[in-house]
Amino acid sequence: MRVLGIETSCDETGLGIYDTAHGLMAHALFSQVEIHQPYGGVVPELASRDHVRRILPLIKKVMAESGSSCDDLGGIAYTAGPGLVGALLVGAAVGSSLAMTWDVPALGVHHMEGHLLAPMLEASPPRFPFLALLVSGGHTLLVAVQGVGRYQILGESIDDAAGEAFDKTAKMLGLTYPGGPALAKLAEQGDAQRFHFPRPMTTRPGLDFSFSGLKTFARTTWAEHAPDEQSKADIARAFEDAVIDTLAIKCKRAMKQSGLKDLVIAGGVSANRALRGRLQSLVDKEGGRLFCPRAEFCTDNGAMIAYAGWCRMLHEGKKQTAFAVQARWSIESLQPV
Ligand code: KG4
Ligand code: ZN
Repeated sequence: MRVLGIETSCDETGLGIYDTAHGLMAHALFSQVEIHQPYGGVVPELASRDHVRRILPLIKKVMAESGSSCDDLGGIAYTAGPGLVGALLVGAAVGSSLAMTWDVPALGVHHMEGHLLAPMLEASPPRFPFLALLVSGGHTLLVAVQGVGRYQILGESIDDAAGEAFDKTAKMLGLTYPGGPALAKLAEQGDAQRFHFPRPMTTRPGLDFSFSGLKTFARTTWAEHAPDEQSKADIARAFEDAVIDTLAIKCKRAMKQSGLKDLVIAGGVSANRALRGRLQSLVDKEGGRLFCPRAEFCTDNGAMIAYAGWCRMLHEGKKQTAFAVQARWSIESLQPV
């Protein structure tokens, strides 16, 4: 069975084609970074309009690259949430219309399930059960994963998501959007010993996160010191170290609590090299393994939606879902397959 996947939840138009026999056959992405850069963040209306412009040419591209015609497709999967409603509606409308025309089922996929399953596209995929740390611009989730759709949230952010904290701190330091990668690059020049930021919510029990205070801590530190390039890099380093340390402390705690040693990290922030390094040492010490998607599949992409859709259609049969999108949608509410 071959599935076309469509991702339009935020500021990238992503397409992918996943096939039972051939695996991932094609994927394509258009990033809207330059469109939103002048505004310092995603402008939802501009995002929706650009998805409209990009989606059909990208569908043609992946169909051609994979040598697929509409007769080869067993279904179409589109991201149905969580995300920006206008942006989601573009993928949902195009996906559902094509599905109706081509007489195949259309399936709405959960964006975070897409991220969570993205490491399955790699050469050595994780085996259930495992622990997953999902760190994106909109979510920070620690999940015990027993199987596809069998997710128990062990901890989540009570305020800003990890990626959001990266982006806001980067913006405050005058870095261009999207701030996460820019801040990580600047942090490489920073002195790790100069500033020490708190590790929020690590001194009390529990697995929830809070990152909004770190952004304020960064702002106060920036205001109190000479606004030179070195101070900026030192603050970036202290901020990044604090986020990574906090995530690692909670992962270790979650491993102890759940007994799960294998760790999957996914979502945009999992592209962060320092975070990967830190979590690799953690799992090495704990006797587990770390699984992470390749860098281009850490951030939003269509390949993960094609895979998640294929997985559900394979196990659940080709059932059609109602045309609907959701800005908010808990991953725990998904049906097990
Ligand atoms: O998963 P994603 O592409 O979109 C959402 O679903 O939100 O994640 C985007 C987030 C942004 O906040 C971006 O700044 C962050 O991931 N990000 C990073 C890095 N690369 C992307 N944060 C820290 N270090 C990175 N290397
Ligand atoms: Zn995402």
